[in-house]
Amino acid sequence: MDDDLGAFIATLPKAELHVHIEGTLEPELMFDLATRNRIEFPYADVDSVKKAYEFSNLQSFLDIYYQAAAVLRTAEDFADLMSAYLSKAARDGVTRAEMFFDPQTHTSRGVPFAEFMEGFASAQAAYADRISSGLIMCFLRHLSEDDALETLDQAEPFVDQIIAVGLDSSEVGHPPEKFARAYKKARSMGLRAVAHAGEEGPPDYIWASLDLLGAERIDHGVRCLDDPNLVKRLAEEQVPLTVCPMSNVRLKVVDRMQDHPLIRMLEAGLKVSINSDDPAYFGGYIADNYRNAATALGLTHEDLKRIADTSLASAFGAA
Ligand code: ADE
Ligand code: ZN
Repeated sequence: MDDDLGAFIATLPKAELHVHIEGTLEPELMFDLATRNRIEFPYADVDSVKKAYEFSNLQSFLDIYYQAAAVLRTAEDFADLMSAYLSKAARDGVTRAEMFFDPQTHTSRGVPFAEFMEGFASAQAAYADRISSGLIMCFLRHLSEDDALETLDQAEPFVDQIIAVGLDSSEVGHPPEKFARAYKKARSMGLRAVAHAGEEGPPDYIWASLDLLGAERIDHGVRCLDDPNLVKRLAEEQVPLTVCPMSNVRLKVVDRMQDHPLIRMLEAGLKVSINSDDPAYFGGYIADNYRNAATALGLTHEDLKRIADTSLASAFGAA
């Protein structure tokens, strides 16, 4: 690794706007929590877990990711998860983190809403002097809208702890319009709105996220390049796109980092940030994403500074 580049990236103030807290669960912590909670685990050791991280697409990743989340049970578990992430993010120069969490992954296993909210809050408070942070509650799009509405009801007592709603999980076949009522309700509760769109799904899902959900940022959005009218709109309206280069390579959205459309997106005047998505699964945290993209795509220090400044300007909260 180029040490100068590494040092430059680590000291560049930046926001992380696209990270799933459940996607920061490292295999070591996974094993510790399985032991602590006496949960049977289908892997013998950390190495065999890491070997399973060969993904052919988004779904092949999600299957393992949801299974692994089953080790998270108590407020202490969620606090340990959050602390581990915030410490790595601060190390990487993140001054503001807006993190997704998936309540349905936990409530469906009988974990009460209060358990994870309490754990998250205690870790966020412990790190508040080093990193500003906020939570984005995601609806799992493979589940029904009624389930999302029920989740919003459960979130009501904790709404002050949440800045926005998002939409994640299996994209294709679960278009944004399925969640129009849930987003309307969330916005009426004072929550901001973002949505995963155009990761594997078509540009239409980006249009619908903007027009039918009121999404203020698009998570991924790389497939916007298939639709010149959409690119024009995203550039004109300066809609933030939270791009995750290492995720896109590992989930085979792009073949190789050298082929990543980030350069074309920057050239089109799009408001692009670099993020890690699920760093424990995709081989690196946010600084690794900056460095790998910079090396493969020939990004200059000025390019990286522009991207980091864009991330801070795209955040809902202050650093
Ligand atoms: N959940 C966690 N990571 C995701 C991704 N990259 N796309 C959709 N849902 C996700
Ligand atoms: Zn994501």
